[in-house]
Amino acid sequence: MLPTDSPSGWPDAAQLLMHTRQTILPKRLHAPSPDEAQLHALLAAAATAPDHDQLRPWRFVLVPAAQRPALGEVFAQALRERDPAATAEQLEQAREKALRAPLLLLLVVNATCGDADIDLGERLISAGCAVQNLLLMATAQGFGSALTSGKALKSEALREFFGLTADEHAPCFISVGTAHTRKPGRPRPQPTELLKPLPHPPQSPDQAPTTA
Ligand SMILES: Cc1cc2nc3c(=O)[nH]c(=O)nc-3n(C[C@H](O)[C@H](O)[C@H](O)COP(=O)(O)O)c2cc1C
Repeated sequence: MLPTDSPSGWPDAAQLLMHTRQTILPKRLHAPSPDEAQLHALLAAAATAPDHDQLRPWRFVLVPAAQRPALGEVFAQALRERDPAATAEQLEQAREKALRAPLLLLLVVNATCGDADIDLGERLISAGCAVQNLLLMATAQGFGSALTSGKALKSEALREFFGLTADEHAPCFISVGTAHTRKPGRPRPQPTELLKPLPHPPQSPDQAPTTA
């Protein structure tokens, strides 16, 4: 169902996808998970992202249900790395985070593969486009989704678990599942807040940009 504050003047498809997508935190994502065919479609959507020089600098790592307890131990180890005094309860909370969403993917971005002139910023933008496409496809499939980051992503324990090389970054997890409840969407910036003029106007009519 569309939110009641949908913007007017949007094409239906854009409104359905972009305005309906919202973060549903992993603890509120339940079974059923996307099936094989739906997961395939999520990745195919990601693959439509712009990718300068076709470096394919990003990938997704699926954490299957059987590996979630092991990931939970990694989260606990990551907490111990940064807080040796963490209590048993805090460690248990860290472990539990690995068990939440029915579909869990880690985003991995390679900072150096291919043409070195394509810097990390460009690679992260490509990855962000891929992730947004994936999230919109999940929305089109009727699923809820979330991105989550956190200090554990930088931990040695996690990097080792996922076999990350020194050139690879893990910006966030992507969770997908079935949402039983949704909150009202958050207020969005006004379009006029997002468009700024050039800082310096042209100095003379001769230097003014011509219209195409
Ligand atoms: C890279 C990235 C990491 C994020 N990590 C978290 C997170 O750890 N915890 C969280 O609650 N939200 C996280 N978010 C989600 C944002 O908080 C969320 O997108 C924002 O609140 C806007 O809500 P919306 O997605 O419903 O528009 C993350 C978003 C991005 C882009």
